[in-house]
Amino acid sequence: EAIHLEDYKTPAYLVDQVQLTFQLEPSATLVRSKLQMSRNLDRTEPEPLRLDGNSMELISVVLDGKTLSGDNYQLDAEGVTIFAVPEKFCLEIETKIDPAGNTSLEGLYQSSGNFCTQCEAHGFRKITFYPDRPDVMAKFRVRIEAEKKYPVLLSNGNLIAEGELENGHHYAEWEDPFPKPSYLFALVAGDLVCIEDSYKTRSGRDVLLQIFVEERNKDFCDHAMLSLKKSMKWDEDVFDLEYDLDRYMIVAVDDFNMGAMENKGLNVFNSKYVLAHPETATDADYLGVESVIAHEYFHNWTGNRVTCRDWFQLSLKEGLTVYRDQQFSADMNSAAVCRIDDVRILRQHQFPEDAGPMAHPVRPASYVEINNFYTMTVYNKGAEVIRMMRTLLGEEKFVDGVKLYLKRHDGDAATCDDFVRAMEAAGQRDLSQFKLWYSQAGTPQVLIRSHYDEQAKSLRLDMVQHCPPTPEAEQKQPFQIPLAVGLLAADGSDIPLQLEGEDSAGATTRVLELCEKEQSFTFIGLKEQPILSPLRGFSAPVRLKADFSDDELAFRMAHDADSFNRWEAGQTLALKELLRMLSDLEEGRQFVLSPKFICAWRHALEDRQADMSLLTQLLTLPSEQYLSDQLEECNPQAVREVRDRARWQLGSECQAALMERYQECADDGEYSLDPQAVGRRSLRNFCLTLLMELHDQRMTDLCLEQYYKSQNMTDRLAAFAVMVDNPAQDRLAVINDFYQRWQEHPLLIDKWFSVQAMSHQPQVFAEVELLLRHPAFSMSNPNRFRSLVGAFTQNLGAFHRGDGAGYRFLADQVLLLDQKNPQVAARMAGPFTRWKRLEPHRRELMKAELVRMQAAELSKDLYEIVSKSLS
Ligand code: ARG
Ligand code: ZN
Repeated sequence: EAIHLEDYKTPAYLVDQVQLTFQLEPSATLVRSKLQMSRNLDRTEPEPLRLDGNSMELISVVLDGKTLSGDNYQLDAEGVTIFAVPEKFCLEIETKIDPAGNTSLEGLYQSSGNFCTQCEAHGFRKITFYPDRPDVMAKFRVRIEAEKKYPVLLSNGNLIAEGELENGHHYAEWEDPFPKPSYLFALVAGDLVCIEDSYKTRSGRDVLLQIFVEERNKDFCDHAMLSLKKSMKWDEDVFDLEYDLDRYMIVAVDDFNMGAMENKGLNVFNSKYVLAHPETATDADYLGVESVIAHEYFHNWTGNRVTCRDWFQLSLKEGLTVYRDQQFSADMNSAAVCRIDDVRILRQHQFPEDAGPMAHPVRPASYVEINNFYTMTVYNKGAEVIRMMRTLLGEEKFVDGVKLYLKRHDGDAATCDDFVRAMEAAGQRDLSQFKLWYSQAGTPQVLIRSHYDEQAKSLRLDMVQHCPPTPEAEQKQPFQIPLAVGLLAADGSDIPLQLEGEDSAGATTRVLELCEKEQSFTFIGLKEQPILSPLRGFSAPVRLKADFSDDELAFRMAHDADSFNRWEAGQTLALKELLRMLSDLEEGRQFVLSPKFICAWRHALEDRQADMSLLTQLLTLPSEQYLSDQLEECNPQAVREVRDRARWQLGSECQAALMERYQECADDGEYSLDPQAVGRRSLRNFCLTLLMELHDQRMTDLCLEQYYKSQNMTDRLAAFAVMVDNPAQDRLAVINDFYQRWQEHPLLIDKWFSVQAMSHQPQVFAEVELLLRHPAFSMSNPNRFRSLVGAFTQNLGAFHRGDGAGYRFLADQVLLLDQKNPQVAARMAGPFTRWKRLEPHRRELMKAELVRMQAAELSKDLYEIVSKSLS
């Protein structure tokens, strides 16, 4: 039942015009669709017409004015086949659907009593029968009729009519002038209020900006609006791209499977990525809103004006748009911190995905359920692939390439190959080897050995690349890997680089292109033995192996001109240290941090020149996920024990220094989002968490004070989280206080659940089981489910209990959720795909749960994850 890229065929019939009429009723909505269709020019022979459709009642089919009887078409579980149609025809279809009963949150459904849609990838086929594929693009005209208790009626494009109907009903009509695939269709109806602003584009178009939310949320939209205006400006400045309609609408809903959706002119968002206020949102939440607002806005060009030919090309729009939102965030905030965060996410989640049974290329060659391919690989590795092209071409040619791509394919459904072709044209170079990044899965490993020749004053770098096998291929061809490198002199300064064969030295960072399996590069003209700074800015998504000494790493951590690599050197040093402690633990020895490491760490902590956000990143130990990913056979509980011990040790041995910095970074009253203020809060709360490891009453008092007195959620949540993680007697009081204070705010109750689910306290599992029964817990809200069940699975030390109860718990919850919402259930099953990387005992326990799940009646979504995990 898998679908394959190589089977792609152009559509047999095209849609020129769509007219949709909705009569909205919660459990019985009538949808009338009128399609102007024609046979595709590249088909000469007539073929039956196939339309996708499921989960609805077909009421009537009318072809060119004549009602078709049952023997003219055949209905099945996935759609309808109409046996004979002329070359050009008008098809009218009426269906009945049940939005109130739609728990999958795909198609038309209800959230807080309001109607909304989610059509990507295959939701439109739950609304009406249609050729639901992105290469069928049509102009849409939509009429919505509803009771007046749904005062706001929205769809894509421009409002062309509205008015009263009988019996307390009203209507609105919308027209979208841009042809679009069905996955970009949207409808929203409900009792919403709207926050308005405007934006004048560079060429002078006045755009009305509207954010629709429930009344209770109307004071929480300012940051989203500001982010939207910044995004519009940025896309004009960087890519010369302007908005193309007279209005841009965003709707926030509480029940949403993913982050947000770029429907033409009418984005629908998970309220998590719209609502923000200092008292209720953390600095990280603010950044999340800014980047998702930008992401969806940028899709208007990279996604909507140029869309994907088929879903195998998903990264064409997603990888490129993630790259664009990353660059935007880097320009709006601290670029170095943004890059570190991007790489941290990639390594923590995409590298393990690439090493597991669900590993797939950035452009997958087959899938069972496309919803399972909205992955870190397609999105984040896809963005790295775009970034590598920028590195290879340089910023200017890269921007030209993007513009050329958009110009060539405006109004079309394109492929990843089309994108690369535009890059080749703009960059005047052949990228055929580079394209292997699209078709080969797996994270390449690059081994670098450096040899300094005292006599010749040269440094030779010998590199070897190797990519482990993944499900789609055992053997890999060598990748083209751009490696940005620098060399440091003994005084810490960057050396101008001269490669063998060059007359003079040039820039201090050079991009070496590793294209062979084994390749060497030689730098000449060096006065002394330099220190290598490889893979600057993480110029390629690879695992780098090099035998750096601790001294070299400490030196680079202090001096590297590339801030990413300064952080990276610190992480590598810490990683070595923690892995050594882990083997000490496993062999029954004492496991402690070395005095040398603690000394270097304290030194960094006391650096008062450093940017505080960067410093916090530098001081943070590698995550449990990243540590686990380094191990062939992992016991996550041992990883937890070692990392917690190291944190405790840093807390106790650097107590005075931590305390000093905590005090220095005290809140100065006014909440501001400027990078300095954000940095100060991050360092302060980082110090707080380490100090709280010491279980000292004085510290607990400070923490309680911070919790009760903070006026912003960043500081309050940080204090809350450490209190929950602490056996102190005030723990329960704080848990109750948080709940009482914020019970009217779903996004904060989500935090309340997840902080408890993430606790390192030994009783956490029992608490999570209790929380499942809490009246505020609900399976039907994806955010809530993720905040408890999802968060618990990220609590590696607790989830991976030696008795397998964590696994049983997850399997039970996933099986239950699968009955309601397969898409989210399949996603929540993600941790099971890592079973082969566990130590033998836990491996067997997890496998047993997969086997148990496989025996149940599963959705296509969950079935794909479970069966691929076991194969
Ligand atoms: N295109 C959306 C975004 O990246 C995500 C939609 C995901 N939908 C889904 N059914 N998987 O902004
Ligand atoms: Zn996207």
